[in-house]
Amino acid sequence: MLKTHTCGELRPAHIGQTVKLAGWVNRYRDQGGVIFIDLRDRWGVVQVVIDVATAPDAHRVAGDLRSEYVVQVEGLVRARPEGTQNPELATGEIEVEALSVVLLNPSKTPPFYINKEEKIDETARMRYRYLDLRRPRMQQNLILRHRVVKFIRDYLDQRGFVEVETPILFKTTPEGARDFLVPSRLNPGQFYALPQSPQQLKQLLMVAGYEKYFQIARCFRDEDLRGDRQPEFTQLDLEMSFVQREDVMDLIEGLMIAICEQVAGKTPCFKPFPRIKYVDAMEKYGSDKPDMRYDLEAVDVTQLAGKSAFPVFVNNAAAGKPIKALCAPGMAAGLSGERLKKLTAELETLARGAGAKGLAWMALPETEDGEIKGPIGKYFTVEQKMALFEQLAAQPGDLVLFISDARDVVYNVVDVLRRHIAHELGWDDPDKLAFAWIIDFPMFYWNEEEQRWDPSQHMFTSPLPEDIPLLDTDPGAARGSQYDLACNGYEVAGGSIRIHSRELQEKIFPLIGQTMEHAREQFGHMLEAFEYGVPPHGGIASGIDRLVMVLAGEPNIREVIAFPKTQSGADIMAHAPSEPEPRQLEELWIRVVEPEKKK
Ligand code: AMO
Ligand code: AMP
Repeated sequence: MLKTHTCGELRPAHIGQTVKLAGWVNRYRDQGGVIFIDLRDRWGVVQVVIDVATAPDAHRVAGDLRSEYVVQVEGLVRARPEGTQNPELATGEIEVEALSVVLLNPSKTPPFYINKEEKIDETARMRYRYLDLRRPRMQQNLILRHRVVKFIRDYLDQRGFVEVETPILFKTTPEGARDFLVPSRLNPGQFYALPQSPQQLKQLLMVAGYEKYFQIARCFRDEDLRGDRQPEFTQLDLEMSFVQREDVMDLIEGLMIAICEQVAGKTPCFKPFPRIKYVDAMEKYGSDKPDMRYDLEAVDVTQLAGKSAFPVFVNNAAAGKPIKALCAPGMAAGLSGERLKKLTAELETLARGAGAKGLAWMALPETEDGEIKGPIGKYFTVEQKMALFEQLAAQPGDLVLFISDARDVVYNVVDVLRRHIAHELGWDDPDKLAFAWIIDFPMFYWNEEEQRWDPSQHMFTSPLPEDIPLLDTDPGAARGSQYDLACNGYEVAGGSIRIHSRELQEKIFPLIGQTMEHAREQFGHMLEAFEYGVPPHGGIASGIDRLVMVLAGEPNIREVIAFPKTQSGADIMAHAPSEPEPRQLEELWIRVVEPEKKK
């Protein structure tokens, strides 16, 4: 080894030892006869002192050093002179007096600072990802990710789970996103699909009698990217036989709590995790992955507001459209009329972006004799306003926002406003971890365009046992045995108890508009397997990227993925995707044809 110690490990106990270190120049200060360098490696930073009087050769080499040069230093560990200790630094009580300095490699000036936390242009970060990853913050994120995955493997191994790898070159899987296709040279004209998840294969492993399977699995989905979405991502994928939904939920809950406490050093806000019915989550938070770090809830005021004189509310209430109110505590306090107008205009723009047709509001005065401000106060009697504020437990200075439209639109707007308000009020503390289970999802959503039901999770999800008869009478009312785990407003896991009888499975296909013929083509192997003694089973998959993102308090999954894709699905460092050689396409019987422009 070119080093005997890491830069981060030296402490007063090492004083008097001669050590060899190697790393990057983090900072460089030339004070004439004495040069100071902060030497950095993955484990930390240590100060090296190069004195022309005691080490003239080392001083000559050090004179040419610059930031990010790679060097090896041999030196003596000594206490820092009184008054020069740095309590910010783990190695801050000591320094290394250089005996020799060897330049291992120079560096061009990096396009951004490695040694400072500052806003860096995203394109530059992606273009020079190896330099971005050199930054301590990114190194900490990837190390955290490593620890989480290692912990998961050990935890599940101790509980009798077997990790089994499943193929990447496979066929279409049922998660409902667009597939990535890979042409087959050996079978020209035919394509593999990259798995959107190992869903079918893990169920087949249950048929195969493994009983407890897991995998840290790479999944591929050709979807539009968002901050919490990448086209390739990693799941902890897991499946168990002879279980009910509580068994799977308990296992994952135990694992998540252990990861938070033992790996991330954070205690979740709630233990056990609250369990929220899908309908309640939508009604209160407008989302099936509500951020539970704060308890801002939408309140249904249809009864009351529908009796006001505001035509929009009266008409909507009569048409069965809900009216919901969100009370933002203290948000109107201390605001002049002008600033209140500006704030509510901003909120209205946000609401319209989420589909609303407007955003009515009332601002409560801060004093008894103050007046209620807002465009719709005039449509409410004094009694109605009092009753409304009582229902909302509104306080002086609060801002009440009203949302009324078709139910789906209301949910959407509530979700957007709720997150925004919480952010403005500083309630979305990244150090907090608030998990919640969402259960009792509807089995299906109605697809108006195609005039059929879509599975709310996937076609292998079993209905709740008591809701099976509803498949024949009222499929829309049937609840699935699905469970999702939300954390800080992200869906970090989702799973279900599966259908294990062929009969029930065959009942689902026509409901979701799959002919039996098509189903046999796509999933014939599953249907066939279901005839050979399938155990009752269920499972779950957790997005490792999202999980590590919330554990690290990062706002985007790119921060916890070594080489992620940009918004347009590209790797701008390696230039992928790119055009293949004509010879490659020929071998595959493929020609690239631009579609005709739509008129
Ligand atoms: P689902 O589609 O809900 O379920 O995915 C499981 C979890 O994977 C994560 N995830 C993603 N993370 C990053 N980028 C993406 N594009 C992305 N898509 C999903 C989420 C999500 O909760 N086969 C089922 C699981 C099962 O039923 O066992 C499945 O894949 O955290
Ligand atoms: P108007 O009387 O049309 O000026 O509207 C009064 C207020 O009601 C405005 O602030 C509008 O933004 C708001 N508003 C209009 N339609 C809706 C709606 N569907 N839901 C909530 N607020 C609305």
